Amino acid sequence: MKKILLIVGSLRKSSFNRQLAGEAAALLEGRANVKTLDFDSVPFMNQDREYPAPESVARVRTEVGSADAVWIFTPEYNYSYPGVLKNLLDWLSRPLKEGDPDRVSALTGKKAAISSAAGSSAGAGARAKLGELLVACRADVMKDPQTGVKLDREAYTTDVLSLGEEERAQLAAQADALLAYLEA
Ligand SMILES: Cc1cc2nc3c(=O)[nH]c(=O)nc-3n(C[C@H](O)[C@H](O)[C@H](O)COP(=O)(O)O)c2cc1C
Repeated sequence: MKKILLIVGSLRKSSFNRQLAGEAAALLEGRANVKTLDFDSVPFMNQDREYPAPESVARVRTEVGSADAVWIFTPEYNYSYPGVLKNLLDWLSRPLKEGDPDRVSALTGKKAAISSAAGSSAGAGARAKLGELLVACRADVMKDPQTGVKLDREAYTTDVLSLGEEERAQLAAQADALLAYLEA
């Protein structure tokens, strides 16, 4: 079975994006080997500390490197993705070997899918900018379909993500498309 690594761009325990990733994992059950990346302990990027990489960075690079695809669930912060996600991707974008002329990183050629749970824009700004960032990192981005969940007042009151029929169908279609993308 293909390995899909879920990356949640929020460190919040009850993050809606973490809940959305959980829904995606349920949809992929029995069809892919799914794991969620833990990156709380990755430090801020500092080029003084790149080689050798901090232990937590080496670990996330290994996990991303051994996955067939990453599926990123991003909140929207000020019409973009959060800094914690950018920091993680900055570390992942750097050459695995110092001085490598080909600059091969954990993200080089990595298949990637993008989803978001956010406010009224359903994360459109964050998803668009994240797509550009991943292309800049030389990942192989599945631009469509994506899933954008619009959080309503009830979600913000209860901290519970409840998907509508259309959103669930969108997520299921994206899961199917990602599996097909992995076979292509
Ligand atoms: C710094 C900051 C900026 C935000 N900017 C936006 C925004 O531009 N658009 C939006 O829809 N929501 C915005 N939000 C709301 C978040 O998208 C919302 O809180 C979401 O639940 C965060 O994702 P999470 O539940 O996965 O942590 C912002 C929240 C924060 C903390």
